[in-house]
Amino acid sequence: MENTQSYWLASTPETDYPGLASDITVDVAVLGGGLAGLSIAWLLKQEGLRVAVVEANRICQGVSGHTTAKITSQHDLVYAELDQVFGRERARQYADANEAALKLIGETIKTQGIDCDYEEKAAYVFTEQDQYVAQIEKEGRIAAELGLPAQADPEPGLPFPVKAALRFDKQAQFHPRKYALALARTIPGAGCALYEQSPVVGLEEGKIITITTKGGPTIRADVGVLATHFPCHDGGGLYFSRMYAERSYVLGVRAESPLPAGMYISAEQPGRSLRTQGTPEGDLLLVGGEHHRTGTGKEWPHYQKLEDYARDHFKVAHIPYRWSAQDYTSADKIPYIGYLKKGKDNLFVATGFRKWGMTTSAVAAMLIRDLIVWGSNPWQDVYSPQRGMGLKAAGKTAGMNVEVAAELITGKLAKAGPSKSGEAWVESRRGKKIGYYRDPQGEIHRVDLTCTHLGCEVAWNSAEKTWDCPCHGSRFTPDGEIISGPALKPLGRDIDPDIV
Ligand SMILES: Cc1cc2nc3c(=O)[nH]c(=O)nc-3n(C[C@H](O)[C@H](O)[C@H](O)COP(=O)(O)OP(=O)(O)OC[C@H]3O[C@@H](n4cnc5c(N)ncnc54)[C@H](O)[C@@H]3O)c2cc1C
Ligand code: FES
Repeated sequence: MENTQSYWLASTPETDYPGLASDITVDVAVLGGGLAGLSIAWLLKQEGLRVAVVEANRICQGVSGHTTAKITSQHDLVYAELDQVFGRERARQYADANEAALKLIGETIKTQGIDCDYEEKAAYVFTEQDQYVAQIEKEGRIAAELGLPAQADPEPGLPFPVKAALRFDKQAQFHPRKYALALARTIPGAGCALYEQSPVVGLEEGKIITITTKGGPTIRADVGVLATHFPCHDGGGLYFSRMYAERSYVLGVRAESPLPAGMYISAEQPGRSLRTQGTPEGDLLLVGGEHHRTGTGKEWPHYQKLEDYARDHFKVAHIPYRWSAQDYTSADKIPYIGYLKKGKDNLFVATGFRKWGMTTSAVAAMLIRDLIVWGSNPWQDVYSPQRGMGLKAAGKTAGMNVEVAAELITGKLAKAGPSKSGEAWVESRRGKKIGYYRDPQGEIHRVDLTCTHLGCEVAWNSAEKTWDCPCHGSRFTPDGEIISGPALKPLGRDIDPDIV
């Protein structure tokens, strides 16, 4: 089995910002140092606010370090649905927000002189099947009516035939870590700071927000912004019942055949995403897709399916990079950006980006800045975490909760026998599910499989060698340490020797 490695991480240095060592007081505490948190902090600092970014691990190593980094207002097929479910005004807000995000990123790169492989390109949604043609045509019609730069293009420049394609002009792509690390460098100074390896373990609401990090140091802030991908504090907002996590995969391919010039996503499900990335060794073709609910325990075959697709459509020489990550989707597909809950005007959230977090991070930065500084923003209704849902979306939430409840009650893993080095297995002992992993040195790592967030049963991810929770996407190392929340505590390791 081959290793997994993100090109974005492999081609940039690791950061080394200090941890939070003592209590501090700031105007705004931004929790999470991914693209969302860094973009929000960058705009707030320009307003003269004292901002602290606090990151659990190292910045931009989470989803933002494992993305495909297309910067586009074309979010597969979404505008016809938004127009139908929420009406013209809200669909227009969504379109305007994403076009403004594209502009903000482009201008930031220009004014700050950021060297991040930024390229303006067209973005296409295409299909190889007749059944999606009408959907693409409708999407194009509505997108153009909303003022987006959208038009049908029967020849999108792919080296295989398509049945239909919709082109959005003046979209872009970049190297997400080169961009994010440059934003991060602008944050320390003038009363602002960036702390790494300082996981937030508690948040107390009030006129002053008090944030506790692991080991004890606290941040006192007038305003708190939760940009931890999944909010690490729920505060009664019930975010765990309103979003689901989906994993998705990317291959970095060296190909001998000509590569397409634009950025592409297929209308078919599971989708396929294509773009190129310039590297010192020549262009790398990124082939993405194969999304599925997190924690199914069958991750490795998804890489294989992507590889089969790449080999069917391009002359593949070799595949030096493979990576995967997960993103959250809300029931109505629109991210939650704004006040964490009603009546609480000093606590904000940005989550549920549905794999479109490059523009959405910039949308979050502008929207949250405006709410903090001026109290309103033109797109606040469509992104409001307190918005009402269409009937279809409400039904979907109910469906999501039934699935989660099933995980909570039963778990999905069957008992399996001891396995080889590099593999994991599960045993049931006196009603408790115990997970075992035998590492390449033969040492066995044992954890209680009950997720410390809300008690679902985690499942083994054979591709990444992690325990993943199917309910809300928490992920843990073989030793049970947290890789990503919402869980704030490691998996139990203190297992009664009598039951092992
Ligand atoms: C395979 C894949 C491909 C994608 N492709 C695209 C694309 O082409 N275009 C696009 O627009 N979007 C794309 N996306 C989506 C995009 O990458 C994400 O939406 C975006 O990166 C999310 O950014 P974030 O800052 O919210 O999360 P992250 O980058 O995960 O950052 C959150 C940070 O919060 C930290 N954190 C978590 N808990 C705590 C805590 N308790 N205390 C302190 N810090 C904490 C984490 O360590 C992490 O660094 C893709 C996603 C995937 C999975
Ligand atoms: S129960 Fe919520 S992430 Fe596991």
